Amino acid sequence: MTAQDNGHFLNRPRPWKLAVMGGAYGNVPALQACIDDARHQDCQTMAFIGDAIGCCGHSAEILALINRNFSLLVAGNHEKQVALNQSTCGCGYEVPEDEQAACQAFNIALCGISDDHRHWLLSWPSELLVESPAGRVLLCHGSPERTNEFLYSSQFSKARWRRALEKRQITGFVCTHSGLPWIYRVGVDRFAANCGVVGKPDHDGHTDVHYAILTVSRYGELNVSIRSVRYDEILWAEQLRREGVPDIFISPLETGVWTTGLSSLPESERLVHLGQRPNEMTIRTRHTFQSAPHATHDDCGRSQHPHGESPDPS
Ligand SMILES: [Fe+2]
Repeated sequence: MTAQDNGHFLNRPRPWKLAVMGGAYGNVPALQACIDDARHQDCQTMAFIGDAIGCCGHSAEILALINRNFSLLVAGNHEKQVALNQSTCGCGYEVPEDEQAACQAFNIALCGISDDHRHWLLSWPSELLVESPAGRVLLCHGSPERTNEFLYSSQFSKARWRRALEKRQITGFVCTHSGLPWIYRVGVDRFAANCGVVGKPDHDGHTDVHYAILTVSRYGELNVSIRSVRYDEILWAEQLRREGVPDIFISPLETGVWTTGLSSLPESERLVHLGQRPNEMTIRTRHTFQSAPHATHDDCGRSQHPHGESPDPS
């Protein structure tokens, strides 16, 4: 790099970038791959929004990885149940057989939990408000109203969440819990997003895992994107088999198609591996940077999903 280039970059403010991840479920190599990707994307800050532990076991390892890499933490139902010394997962599935499978996974995770872990997890808050250059963003696990609420794309209510965001005067929220990523524009310049989960694929027939990046450009333009990340799922699946993890929890890592939690899914989500979802949205906010060029409030751009044309979520 030349001195001129160096000066050029040093004088240019970097965009504000936050990586948001959830649902690691003890999948150490997948979480490490997402952390590496976020660093490569130049994310200054990383937030983990709950359900660190789960069906893969490796609880101590995954919590150490989170402790080393994430400065913002939000408790999921798993963290809350562990902190309260419960033996049930608290996922809140509608169908009992789905909840039973989730509790089976949770009990695998409990094996590696110490009292020190419980004390630490007890300190994780139920939600966090992050100040961004484009306004306040809420980080939560299930929804802004309930830790174990499943917010599915097909059931998303723009009216409900526009009222909630306006009432709290926040630009948007990011959740995880359901494990299926989506992004919606809410009203003119607010958003809602599910970052997906880093611990298992999103039931679309691909083995990638997902997280979200929030970027605010130097012009105040907020971009929310879902990252798809690859890791060596074959090697990890072999290790989990040797460790005795039941196949219902390993198979989705290898096929990208879920084996549990399906009965509680809305039909369109159950068949999600046949369709596509949007994976990026840009919102030009009115909160800051009033002199920004092109700062109109009705301008929303989005890229195509890697597997085809993005449907319009607005
Ligand atoms: Fe959860």
